[in-house]
Amino acid sequence: MEDIVEIEKLSWDGYFDEGLANIREIKLEKCWLLRRDYDEGGVSGIIVGPSRSGKTTFIANLVRSIMKNNPDELIFWRGIARCQWTYFKLEKVRLLLSTFQTYEWGDKDREGLVEIADYVAEVRDCTSARDFLDNAKPGYVNVFYMPNWQQLDFLLALSSRLNKRWITVVMDEVQEIVPPNTRKPLCDWIAAYCNTVGQLAKNQISYICATQSYPQVDYQLRAHMLYWVFMPHARVPSKGFLIKQGPLLTLPKGWCIIEGKEGFRRIHFYPCKHHADLVVHIRSVEAMEHEEAAPVPAAAGPADSMLQNR
Ligand SMILES: Nc1ncnc2c1ncn2[C@@H]1O[C@H](COP(=O)(O)OP(=O)(O)O)[C@@H](O)[C@H]1O
Ligand SMILES: [Mg+2]
Repeated sequence: MEDIVEIEKLSWDGYFDEGLANIREIKLEKCWLLRRDYDEGGVSGIIVGPSRSGKTTFIANLVRSIMKNNPDELIFWRGIARCQWTYFKLEKVRLLLSTFQTYEWGDKDREGLVEIADYVAEVRDCTSARDFLDNAKPGYVNVFYMPNWQQLDFLLALSSRLNKRWITVVMDEVQEIVPPNTRKPLCDWIAAYCNTVGQLAKNQISYICATQSYPQVDYQLRAHMLYWVFMPHARVPSKGFLIKQGPLLTLPKGWCIIEGKEGFRRIHFYPCKHHADLVVHIRSVEAMEHEEAAPVPAAAGPADSMLQNR
């Protein structure tokens, strides 16, 4: 048993095999996802890797670099039940909460529910997709919680803004929004959503998403991604990539491999401090009204609940 631990340590503790050492390194600050060029427009990227491989940490590193080097850029971060935006200093977080949902916040280090306004820089209620844009501020991580159906309207509102400010939208766990193999009417919605993602670059909007494995995400979204970032042990698609599966098996924690039109490079990134251990229980206002009338069976998956919301 002890031997197993030793072997694991060896592969995760910064050990590089010869093949990996041959892959050129690029510093995180020079990562292609951070390029801002009006001719080329916004960039898009998908981060893939198993749970706990460092996806959210890597994106948090990117966001930190943007906040430092492009202080005017607006950063949006999709909030999920496990509030991983606590990787940022909480005084740098603004929460934009859709009024179509209710939120019960908990702190794993404290008993009972907590007032979220005591934790973050600001909390704003938003009803229309446009409200999310109007309530966001540069210099902060603008964390948005909204029902899935509103995500498309949100991207459209960002695209039709009347200025050239750079925007980054971070969509962690993106498979919840664009699952594969859906049927009508959801597949039509997903096609429209992915098409809109494809148009964001023209409007100086970067779109960075993450998921545990690429088949969990609709192919139309994958097709629009200019850059792919593979975490240790990520599955690499068998066709269309220069990087092969092998190096991902020995890549140590804290490293990833990015591939795009420039080729591929390895990137090192650092762990982030957790500033709180928050969770949120979200319910749609509509579902609550249903529940009051008659109990709803608990089995609705993400796709079903999306349809329900529409
Ligand atoms: N560069 C790193 N070095 C050491 N530990 C890391 C690094 N990046 C992430 N971790 C740790 O790994 C765990 C999972 O990271 P996370 O980014 O949440 O993974 P994922 O989003 O892929 O599930 C966290 O506890 C985090 O602190
Ligand atoms: Mg994560």
